[in-house]
Amino acid sequence: MSRRFDVVVVGAGAAGLMCALRAGQRGRRVLVLEHADKAGKKILISGGGRCNFTNRDVRPESFLSDNPHFCRSALARYTPQDFIALVERHRIAWHEKTLGQLFCDGSARQIVAMLLDEAAAAGVDVRVGHRITAVDRSDRFAVTTDHGSFEAGTLVLATGGLSIPKMGATGFSHDVARRFGLAIVAPRPGLVPLTLGVPELAGVSLEVVAGLGRTRFREAMLFTHRGLSGPAMLQISSYWRAGEGIALDLLPDLDAVAFLKDRKRSRPKAELRTVLGEVLPQRLAQHLATEGTMATLRDRDLEALGERLKRWTIVPTGTEGYAKAEVTVGGVDTDELSSRTMEAKKVPGLFVIGEAVDVTGWLGGYNFQWAWSSGWAAGEAV
Ligand code: FDA
Repeated sequence: MSRRFDVVVVGAGAAGLMCALRAGQRGRRVLVLEHADKAGKKILISGGGRCNFTNRDVRPESFLSDNPHFCRSALARYTPQDFIALVERHRIAWHEKTLGQLFCDGSARQIVAMLLDEAAAAGVDVRVGHRITAVDRSDRFAVTTDHGSFEAGTLVLATGGLSIPKMGATGFSHDVARRFGLAIVAPRPGLVPLTLGVPELAGVSLEVVAGLGRTRFREAMLFTHRGLSGPAMLQISSYWRAGEGIALDLLPDLDAVAFLKDRKRSRPKAELRTVLGEVLPQRLAQHLATEGTMATLRDRDLEALGERLKRWTIVPTGTEGYAKAEVTVGGVDTDELSSRTMEAKKVPGLFVIGEAVDVTGWLGGYNFQWAWSSGWAAGEAV
């Protein structure tokens, strides 16, 4: 069994497989080491089993990072269109859902099979069930596993983020990067439900605009037993820091004050909760309404209520953590890496790609696109 390679990639996920197959196509001898019993486990559970593999509208503005420009180069060189072309070459049927999100018609298994087929065709050696016990470097990298040691001139860290530890997520890339002297932007859970104590509203959902600073998302929000979820909340959660308030516009298409004043004239005998129930889910209307008919409410109170409906500020108590987070915000500091190749500036031969890097996408296929693009960029360079 060969122990010497040009490139060892740690992590057979989205970014690692893309990097490996591209490097293999370029004639490099590539080994992928994966500790789980199979490759691409997160791809398999993604998008509810259908893998939201990219987004038509990928722009650098849809990614969070201490350096918002870092992702530009890789995203421009391997685009959603490039990945769609690959998917189509493999005759995988797909469809667009809302907001440019592209999903398999069939199953996420097709995406994993496609990546593994491409890797095999390029001569890449993918080994699962390998636990890595040490990484050393003299003139080459030496990776020790429970199945022996492997050597390569190039090491690619592609073990993803910390979310869903139950599935085997580890901080391996962050730890190795740190040992080689690279800075890490403190990781935190992203695309994660937020906690808030209003269990009586569990199950209520509505479209809102959720805002934090200049960031706004107009999507569905869902009250859960523990707090708030749904796309609007998951999106804003990646931007949220403990203690901050999130402003919710519960009636994005309505001038709420004008609506309430109009109803005071046109439906004076109606209860406030009935009027709110015209435009909000019943249970939320009941929760927000005071007793009384519209005629008894002063204009001043209607104005205050209307403004509250347009700018309901909630302060979450926390998040549901990595167990429920779709991604990790933060990771290897982009200042440490070349944005063209993903190589560490101070450790030649060491590359970091995918979610392990401090680049985090919005919900909707952006995180896989970052994995494909950063993996490709490194695959071109290793
Ligand atoms: P990824 O996690 O894919 O791969 C890392 C690999 O490294 C894994 O195979 C892991 O087992 C392995 N590994 C970890 N530690 C190791 C160690 N110590 N030694 C060896 N191997 C190790 N994104 C999106 O764009 N569209 C979507 O539909 C979804 N859906 C989704 C659903 C759920 C439930 C989650 C949790 C996440 C998503 N995501 C998503 C996010 C997306 O899955 C994620 O951003 C990418 O998989 C990141 O790709 P990476 O290759 O960086 O990591």
